Amino acid sequence: MTRSSNNGLRWAVVGAGRICEKHLAAITSEFVNGHLVAISDLDAEKARAKGEKYGVPWYTDFHEMMRRHPEIDVVDVLTPTGYHAEHVIALAPYGKHIVVEKPMALRVSDCDAMIAAAEKHGCRLFVVKQNRFNRAVVAARRALEENRFGKMVLGTVRVRWRRDQKYYDQADWRGTWALDGGVMAQQASHHLDLLQWFMGEVETVHCRTATRLMNIEVEDTAVAVIAFKSGALGVFEATVATRPEDLEGSLSLLGEKGSVIIGGPAVNLIKHWKFDEERPEDEEIHEAFSQDVPNIYGHGHIPYLADVSRAILDGRPGPVEAYEGRKNVSILAALYESAAQGGTPVHPGDPVKASRLGER
Ligand SMILES: NC(=O)c1ccc[n+]([C@@H]2O[C@H](COP(=O)([O-])OP(=O)(O)OC[C@H]3O[C@@H](n4cnc5c(N)ncnc54)[C@H](O)[C@@H]3O)[C@@H](O)[C@H]2O)c1
Repeated sequence: MTRSSNNGLRWAVVGAGRICEKHLAAITSEFVNGHLVAISDLDAEKARAKGEKYGVPWYTDFHEMMRRHPEIDVVDVLTPTGYHAEHVIALAPYGKHIVVEKPMALRVSDCDAMIAAAEKHGCRLFVVKQNRFNRAVVAARRALEENRFGKMVLGTVRVRWRRDQKYYDQADWRGTWALDGGVMAQQASHHLDLLQWFMGEVETVHCRTATRLMNIEVEDTAVAVIAFKSGALGVFEATVATRPEDLEGSLSLLGEKGSVIIGGPAVNLIKHWKFDEERPEDEEIHEAFSQDVPNIYGHGHIPYLADVSRAILDGRPGPVEAYEGRKNVSILAALYESAAQGGTPVHPGDPVKASRLGER
């Protein structure tokens, strides 16, 4: 693998919107040690602002950016969700590795087309799931891998966040079936990913949704019961209609030999940690693995992108590669299909008949 002069990878970014600064700060941090080459956004003002801030050339056409900078190693796609497939497929022929923000896409067929394009052109495709890198989540995952929970019984995720109408009105794509989806696809896809990562493959979902406070096409509130292939159960609750402020983003894991609750606004604080077989390090776990967060996006982008870099440079499997991103989209598709059918059971992979998610 080629390396830039600072021994890191050379990055380009497509999309200079809200989440962009997290990526730019992470790419140029000492942990990722990346070299930012160029940035593009259809909106010249946004592209220019970031280009000038980071001292790199900026473009309004990502094809021009890719053509002018053959030295790019990785391109980071931060565009609206409904365009991820189109943009990844258009970028794949340049043969660079690609990181795409979550959710990978809105339809499983789009994920398949993205994977096929990446494979055809020899690119690795990574999907951002930075919450897997929260310190509290890392600790719980280690406990799972060391079989400290024993047989899993019940997993619960809760996303009780606040979004106002201004958030939805700031861009045309937000809150639409075609390009965004509602709280499940946009905000809670992270928490669903965590639930599946800890509890295993999903067998069936039963989901109900509502639009209670927002003037949007899609749901602002959702609940679901999830049955896992292992026989364990899951509870999923997500809303952006929490008032007056964010309440929590949490994960509870109950197993035959122990229970863990990670709460805080962004799955960042260990609230409960108790196993039948105690270990000396358990005493320190709350302090050692809880983190304060500046906002609900948390601190995970730096370790996530650092791990992507190491995976590319060392040629080893990455943190969340395309097939894991696809799995998340197939669970989302099942939730939306179940909700569209009024809560009937749906298996991930079942044909989409009623759901409008990703409909263009
Ligand atoms: N990981 C996280 O915690 C997290 C948080 C927020 C958003 N996201 C995801 O990031 C993505 C972007 O979200 P956002 O909030 O930054 O949206 P945004 O609307 O603020 O920014 C998207 C940007 O993409 C640009 N764009 C659209 N088409 C383009 C093209 N062809 N070429 C270049 N630029 C183009 C738009 O002009 C806009 O500036 C979404 O998929 C969202 O789900 C992830």
